Amino acid sequence: MSWKDKLIIALDVSDADKALGIVDMLSDSCDIFKVGFELFVTAGPSIVDKIHAKGKRVFLDLKFHDIPNTVSKASLVAAKLGVYMFNMHASGGLDMMKRCRDSVADYCEKNNAKRPKMIGVTMLTSLSNEMLKNELCIQHTVKNQVKHLAMLAQKAGLDGVVASPQEIELIKKNCGNSFLVVAPGIRPSWSLPDDQMRTATPREALHDGADYIVMGRGILKQEDPVKAIELISVEILTA
Ligand code: C5P
Repeated sequence: MSWKDKLIIALDVSDADKALGIVDMLSDSCDIFKVGFELFVTAGPSIVDKIHAKGKRVFLDLKFHDIPNTVSKASLVAAKLGVYMFNMHASGGLDMMKRCRDSVADYCEKNNAKRPKMIGVTMLTSLSNEMLKNELCIQHTVKNQVKHLAMLAQKAGLDGVVASPQEIELIKKNCGNSFLVVAPGIRPSWSLPDDQMRTATPREALHDGADYIVMGRGILKQEDPVKAIELISVEILTA
């Protein structure tokens, strides 16, 4: 298995043609593309079909967070779109996550459809310990909060969590190896952290056991994104 099978490219653009252009440009290097708010709000669900039509998989990163009934219905819509993976905030609570999991599993079983991977968002990678304490009034450290939410997501039957690369080992230790960790906040050694607080290089994240690494600006802001992926390959293979 190549590291590229674990790579998810974030299509953080507000234009469907631009997004599809990126999918074409990186077609040989990446199989899973992430559709987040910006693209979904402009392009609508048809962008998912268009990416599927190119033979690629979609991670629908809409980070659902609402009452259980609303989120479980939205999750069903995501499942009907045939996405490979979608997520919800673990801080929405056990019942919210459980109802999503059960309704999606039930739908997929009855319709003989492949069940999407359901992932809980722990703490955003743009949050620091100080922000947690001073802004959100949460007295735990980021690490403790991430560990708690990951265990809650596992209890609800989700397949894994989104967490910063700095928490991968902690999650694997507490939830087991088969519990997936999707890690954003990934920056090649030569790029800037931007607004991400808890970052790591692709090599570090993969070494620590990330099942998927999500990369946006670290690749797409480079002059030649295809070359950037090749440079990352060199960094990983020569480590
Ligand atoms: O450009 P960059 O590589 O920082 O993009 C990271 C992507 O991962 C963004 O689309 C962001 O929304 C997403 N993400 C994140 N932190 C999370 C969950 C998702 O950065 N906890």
